[in-house]
Amino acid sequence: MYVCLCHGITDKQIRKAVQGGCGSMCDLRCKTSVGNQCGKCNKTAKKIFQQAIEQDTSVIATFK
Ligand code: FES
Repeated sequence: MYVCLCHGITDKQIRKAVQGGCGSMCDLRCKTSVGNQCGKCNKTAKKIFQQAIEQDTSVIATFK
């Protein structure tokens, strides 16, 4: 699903960026440019980012 139409960023790209080490929305914006133009996608991008962080954390917790 496209999240950011201005830059053609999908939810998969956001999840992949989190898996790649993006730990904040600022990191995500720097790496993917999501939300850097009109800003309409910021709310959805943040929601997907938070879900991805929670999933990533649960994977780490499983292996501890
Ligand atoms: S839709 Fe993401 S910056 Fe415009």
